[in-house]
Amino acid sequence: METVLPEAVRRTLPLLTSQPDSPPVRDGYLDLLGGDAPAPSGFFQSLWESRLGTVVYEPVQSGVRKVFAGLRPSARRLRLPEGGTALDVGCGPGNVTADLGRDVGPGGLAVGVDVSRSMLRRAASAYAGPNVGFVRSDASALPLRTDSVDAITCLMVLQLLPDPEGAIAEFARVLVPGGRAAILLPGYAGPGAGVVATVAGVAGVRLPGHEAIAATFERYGMEVLDAGTTAPVARLLAEKPR
Ligand SMILES: C[S@@+](CC[C@H](N)C(=O)[O-])C[C@H]1O[C@@H](n2cnc3c(N)ncnc32)[C@H](O)[C@@H]1O
Repeated sequence: METVLPEAVRRTLPLLTSQPDSPPVRDGYLDLLGGDAPAPSGFFQSLWESRLGTVVYEPVQSGVRKVFAGLRPSARRLRLPEGGTALDVGCGPGNVTADLGRDVGPGGLAVGVDVSRSMLRRAASAYAGPNVGFVRSDASALPLRTDSVDAITCLMVLQLLPDPEGAIAEFARVLVPGGRAAILLPGYAGPGAGVVATVAGVAGVRLPGHEAIAATFERYGMEVLDAGTTAPVARLLAEKPR
C-alpha cells in the first residue's frame, strides 16, 4: 500500500460512509475491496479484470465513442453543475471519468469506481488528477454517503452485474435530490430478442432491456426521463425527485 494520498482521493474521503483510518491506496487508487471483490460474473468480466482485456478495451471504446459522440452523456443531459460531484460507476479505463472531471471543473470532483484492479491501475495512471480520482468498490454496495453525488454515469456495466437491481438502488440512494443517472447497456429489441438474450446470458451478459431497467429505477423512487433501445445499445436517463 502507498502512503501518498492522491489529491482527488483525499477530496473523496469526506463522501465515504465510513472513513478508513489509513486509506488503502494502491497504484494511485483507493482500494476499498482488498480481497473481498465479487467473483467475475462471466467471460467478459474475467476479460475486463485481465491486463490483456484492459489494454485492448480502451482504444476500441474510445474509437467507438469518437464516432458515436452521444454514447457519452453530456453535462447538460446529466444536469451536472460546474463545481459538482460526478460518479462514474464501472469506469473501466477512466476516460469518461476524466471527461466528467472537465465538466465539473477544478472546483468539482469526478470519481470513477470499478472492481477491476487492472482497469483502475490504467485509469489512475492515465487520468488521476486534482479533481479526478478512482476507487475500487462494487457497484452494488457503493461506499458513498446518501445524497452525496450530483450525477452518475454507468456505461456498459449493468449487463455484467449479478445484481443490477442492487446497483440501481445504490444510485437512487447516493444521488442528491434532483440528481441524474445516465445508463447505457447493450440492447436489442428486434425479432429474436429472446434468443439473443439467452445466447448473451451464456457469456455472463444480461440483456434485461430498457423497460425492465426503467421499471427498476421507478421502484426505487426515480423518475425516468428517457428510455429506449437503438440496437446495439439501450439507454436510460433518470432523475431523483427533489
Ligand atoms: C465494458 S466495461 C465499461 C467501462 C466504461 N464504463 C466504458 O463505458 O467504457 C465494464 C466495466 O464494468 C466493471 N464492473 C463489472 N462489474 C462491476 C461491479 N460489480 N462493480 C463495479 N464495476 C464493475 C468492469 O470491471 C469494467 O471495467
